[in-house]
Amino acid sequence: MNNKVVFITGATSGFGRATARRFAQAGWSLVLSGRRTDRLEELKKELAGQAAVHIATLDVRDADAVAAMVAALPAAFRPVRCLVNNAGLALAPIPAQKVVLKDWHTMIDTNVTGLVNVTHAVLPSLLETGAGASIVNLGSVAGSWPYPGGHVYGATKAFVQQFSYNLRCDLQGTGVRVTDIAPGMAETEFTLVRTGGDQAASDKLYRGTTPLTAEDIAEQIFYVATLPDHININRLEVMPTRQAWSAFAIDRDPA
Ligand SMILES: NC(=O)c1ccc[n+]([C@@H]2O[C@H](COP(=O)([O-])OP(=O)(O)OC[C@H]3O[C@@H](n4cnc5c(N)ncnc54)[C@H](OP(=O)(O)O)[C@@H]3O)[C@@H](O)[C@H]2O)c1
Repeated sequence: MNNKVVFITGATSGFGRATARRFAQAGWSLVLSGRRTDRLEELKKELAGQAAVHIATLDVRDADAVAAMVAALPAAFRPVRCLVNNAGLALAPIPAQKVVLKDWHTMIDTNVTGLVNVTHAVLPSLLETGAGASIVNLGSVAGSWPYPGGHVYGATKAFVQQFSYNLRCDLQGTGVRVTDIAPGMAETEFTLVRTGGDQAASDKLYRGTTPLTAEDIAEQIFYVATLPDHININRLEVMPTRQAWSAFAIDRDPA
């Protein structure tokens, strides 16, 4: 019997949902969370024939709710072998000086506080699994490379990278692996959320190029989590072939 359990945050859309499908295909048991209950229920129905699925409506920003949800996991869904810290968002793709403070707080509360809330709650279960367990954190190229409008989003993803590396130091000897997966441009609901629901802006960003898909990233997550126990990928930065860096911006006097 395959009793490997993957715990995915943000399973209602994009990378998280594709990752749930990928692990289900391989017969893992799934713990799926997110705020949109209707989507969790739909996904559970879809995957029920393939895998055992436990769903829980959860806002990762709420530390007490996260701890209670993990404490209440049914026996069949522990210990956890892989935690995919995927829930996250970007907001306000505009200059820092124009952003409302609430948007910065929402990104920090979700991408930083939420991620540590879940990590803290699930860590004992991962330690119980020991060798072969893994934490896969969703960082971003924005955590390493600045761009206009990236302000707090990029900073939260830099946190994800450093937190992942620091966790590795403390988990040395436990067998628990930690990876920061840092995707570049990928077409999900990410831009729709970032632009406050502007479908035209989202379509425009991805038009005429070939972004990564949610399935591309799900495949990377699955790969990292199923490598032999003695291999730890520290950081995996993945871009579409048609995306690369650009020149520095220089402010010049008018000609
Ligand atoms: N798409 C990209 O280009 C890209 C690139 C690099 C990194 N990333 C990162 O990849 C991760 C997934 O993004 P995605 O592209 O798949 O975007 P997405 O399609 O918008 O999915 C984001 C997921 O996060 C969940 N979420 C957001 N806030 C939450 C909260 N407070 N509590 C619980 N769940 C929450 C959402 O679920 P609910 O709304 O149902 O709660 C949703 O399932 C994020 O961390 C993002 O920063 C994305």
